[in-house]
Amino acid sequence: MQNVKAALVTGGSRGIGAAIVERLARDGAAVAFTYSSSRETALALAARIEAAGGRALAIQADSADEAQLRAAVNRAAGEFGSLDILVNSAGVLEMGPVDSFPIERLDRSLAVNVRGAFIAIQEALRHMKAGGRIVTIGSMARERVGFPQSSVYAMTKGAVAAMVRGVAIDLGPRGITVNNVQPGPTQTGMVPEGYVDALVGMSPVGRLGRPEEIAGMVAYLVSPEAGYVTGASFTIDGGMIA
Ligand SMILES: NC(=O)c1ccc[n+]([C@@H]2O[C@H](COP(=O)([O-])OP(=O)(O)OC[C@H]3O[C@@H](n4cnc5c(N)ncnc54)[C@H](OP(=O)(O)O)[C@@H]3O)[C@@H](O)[C@H]2O)c1
Repeated sequence: MQNVKAALVTGGSRGIGAAIVERLARDGAAVAFTYSSSRETALALAARIEAAGGRALAIQADSADEAQLRAAVNRAAGEFGSLDILVNSAGVLEMGPVDSFPIERLDRSLAVNVRGAFIAIQEALRHMKAGGRIVTIGSMARERVGFPQSSVYAMTKGAVAAMVRGVAIDLGPRGITVNNVQPGPTQTGMVPEGYVDALVGMSPVGRLGRPEEIAGMVAYLVSPEAGYVTGASFTIDGGMIA
């Protein structure tokens, strides 16, 4: 496939990941994306993109499962013949007080949000050439936790931001950029219903973010003009940490 960028978005079936999938497809990329359980939603998204003349591939792969994740990266690269863009969006939000937080949920959060992002990058590098682009979806919570019961989630997003800086230094000489996009509260299934009014009340712009607004930043970071942008974290939060 000449001149068509090949992309993989982890956790692309819903929410922010789905908006990124749609945006990259609209910008002309062939886009593979993973999901863990929402098969119907994932297949419907892929079908919508294909019906609009794009190329999309939905792959079931649990980011906590190393073998599944590596296989998904290789399948995407195999189907498209290359891999130019990796976006790590798969993530889970586990909340709870520190004194009773179940260690299995801590392990799961680290496995999906941190270990999964690292493994996907590692596997993608087997296919990515100079000009490659890697973006992780972190969180505003890395800059300002702001809520009780968020220590584990904030820990994972802090780790992602630090990893991005380290990986960016390693990959600079190879011409591959690595950046981190940190959304504030964004309208997806991840924001618990009962929190919306409080979050809107805390927001200088008086609303939640839209997944498309996060996707717009990702679209810039994976574009050719962002070649000098690497190792950076960008917070998109309507001014909540201002
Ligand atoms: N929404 C916010 O306010 C907000 C704020 C800051 C950061 N973020 C970050 O943005 C990213 C996307 O969040 P979202 O709000 O779009 O969440 P979401 O609406 O809950 O969607 C999560 C997506 O990740 C996938 N996923 C979850 N666990 C997975 C796993 N183990 N393996 C593979 N895929 C998995 C889901 O797949 P299934 O459909 O199969 O479940 C779904 O596509 C996350 O990293 C999150 O931490 C979100």
